[in-house]
Amino acid sequence: MATTTISPSLLLLLLVLLVLSTFPAIIFTEAPPEIGGEWRLLKSSMGISAMHMQLLPGDKLLAFDRTDFGPSNLSLPGGHCRLDPSDLALTTDCTSHSVLLDLPTLSLRPLTILTDTWCSSGTLLPNASFFQSGGFNDGDHTIRLFASTTPFSDWTETSGYLSARRWYATNQLLPDGRVLILGGRRQFNYEFFPKDHSRPLTAFSFLEETRDGDAENNLYPFVHLLPDGTLFIFANTRAVILDLSVNGYPLRHLPAIPDAVPRNYPSSGSSVLLPLRPPAHSPEILICGGAQRGAFQAALNGSFWPAARTCGRIFPLEQDPTWAMEDMPGARVMGDMVLLPTGDVLVVNGAAAGTAGWELAREPVTAPLLYNPSGPAGNRFGFMNRSPIPRLYHSSAVLDTYGRVLVGGSNPHVCYNFTNVTFPTELSLEAFYPPYLNPLLDSLRPSVVAVWIGDGGGGSDKVVTPAVVGYGETVGVRFLVRERIAGGGVEVVVVAPAFATHSFAMNQRMVVLDGGRTEQVAPHVYELEVRAPPSPKVAPPGYYMMFVVHAGAPSRGVWVKIQRRDVVT
Ligand SMILES: *[C@@H]1O[C@H](CO)[C@@H](O)[C@H](O)[C@H]1NC(C)=O
Ligand SMILES: *[C@@H]1O[C@H](CO)[C@@H](O)[C@H](O)[C@H]1NC(C)=O
Ligand SMILES: *[C@@H]1O[C@H](CO)[C@@H](O)[C@H](O)[C@H]1NC(C)=O
Ligand SMILES: *[C@@H]1O[C@H](CO)[C@@H](O)[C@H](O)[C@H]1NC(C)=O
Ligand SMILES: *[C@@H]1O[C@H](CO)[C@@H](O)[C@H](O)[C@H]1NC(C)=O
Repeated sequence: MATTTISPSLLLLLLVLLVLSTFPAIIFTEAPPEIGGEWRLLKSSMGISAMHMQLLPGDKLLAFDRTDFGPSNLSLPGGHCRLDPSDLALTTDCTSHSVLLDLPTLSLRPLTILTDTWCSSGTLLPNASFFQSGGFNDGDHTIRLFASTTPFSDWTETSGYLSARRWYATNQLLPDGRVLILGGRRQFNYEFFPKDHSRPLTAFSFLEETRDGDAENNLYPFVHLLPDGTLFIFANTRAVILDLSVNGYPLRHLPAIPDAVPRNYPSSGSSVLLPLRPPAHSPEILICGGAQRGAFQAALNGSFWPAARTCGRIFPLEQDPTWAMEDMPGARVMGDMVLLPTGDVLVVNGAAAGTAGWELAREPVTAPLLYNPSGPAGNRFGFMNRSPIPRLYHSSAVLDTYGRVLVGGSNPHVCYNFTNVTFPTELSLEAFYPPYLNPLLDSLRPSVVAVWIGDGGGGSDKVVTPAVVGYGETVGVRFLVRERIAGGGVEVVVVAPAFATHSFAMNQRMVVLDGGRTEQVAPHVYELEVRAPPSPKVAPPGYYMMFVVHAGAPSRGVWVKIQRRDVVT
């Protein structure tokens, strides 16, 4: 085994990190890119405002806004126009409200949605079609599919499919490949895609119990699939465990979050399932930010209350789960939480005062927070560098295979309003480059050259991705790295591409793969065998980005499809 000592560049970086970490104020105002990350403008305009975003296999970004708030800045394909009597600004709309962005080339293709997708939900299906559910008005019972691997595909819409109006609902991909569609405004129930004809709708009174009158504070509930197949569902301040085989009666009620701060729309905080680690895959949930009860009415009255600073962490499957509370270094409502390949969490976007909703937030927070879940309590957050662009209501953020966080949207206005308003409608797309993408770390950064299935083997049978991987199977990974650090950990992780809207990333999930020893097979070439996730409860079937992380530096992600061998999906 050849090893090298720590390079001078890394030593310098570590030294700078050490010095700066004792002066958080310096990090906040002065951080160089290797400490505080870097913002880059990818598109000054995507033509639409990226209120909803989903990364697709093949490194394409699908985005859409809504169809009823005036003309976007992009024409519909083929010179088509839609008649839309419910449009607030024009009834004949010849513009597009959805786009597909090819990330390697940054070329844009306008797509056709005909009915309203405003405040809807979505899930990437195991067959790489993107499934979108609901919206508003003419679109609230509609489902839409986008076949992501078909060249030049466009949306297909099926109206009247949903059993209930799904506006501000949440989706979760299930172990059997179906999608749960839960809640929505004044919907205290859930349903499935594909539809369960024997039971098209199941009542779920938890959503009625957690509604704060007109303020609601429980829309876009946080839903996370737990590795025992049950669901963690959080609304307002409360959480339950739901077993879908028991039809709408929670299996267990967890304690309410102790500080009693509402966390769901319009008091939008955010929530993630922290990385699931072998062998136990013990699930832990992190919820951060939100707005005090009453903040919504106060904002309607023109008084913008400070947002919440608190986060809560809980192991929902423990015998007597309790919330461990901690403070963010700043207040935030409407933050997006994004899992990074290193297992850290980026909290990005949002505001320090007010709530979600039209014109209801002030004091944009343009500096993301980087959260290290395994850091010592009280010392897990670091401020990153500020973006020049405020991202308030209707903004979104997703991880891509470059390890960047794509950040788009922001439109706190009823229509597209570009001038004469505070916080104009944003059509731009930025990428946040976390500190681990700094070129100083390139010598440590693995580059994946092959992924294969099955034990042992060498040479020509090793295929490059896209790989199809069965549950529990051995996966071989070969990677290049210029400077292998002796004892520097190598981790292989899979991250599910999430559907992000309204400060919540549906289906977001990261599983750390059980790994063997890294062996050097040639100069700078290493091989490692890992085990695919053990079951669809740990990782529902479908497409994942697989990253190799060495000494904190992630590779480019490669797409793998995880599936059951005995079922065709
Ligand atoms: C809309 O597009 C036009 C060019 O087609 C451009 O001049 C204008 O600045 C764009 N507006 C915004 C808000 O991006
Ligand atoms: C993907 O699966 C869904 C659900 O079964 C189905 O409706 C859709 O047609 C499939 N898409 C493709 C491209 O096969
Ligand atoms: C908002 O204003 C209304 C009417 O003036 C008043 O009744 C209400 O108490 C105010 N609410 C808050 C939270 O300030
Ligand atoms: C936004 O634009 C719409 C339509 O152009 C207009 O009616 C509305 O007054 C504008 N809103 C604001 C806050 O300026
Ligand atoms: C800008 O907004 C102000 C206040 O909302 C309004 O009085 C004014 O007419 C607007 N100006 C333009 C050019 O639309």
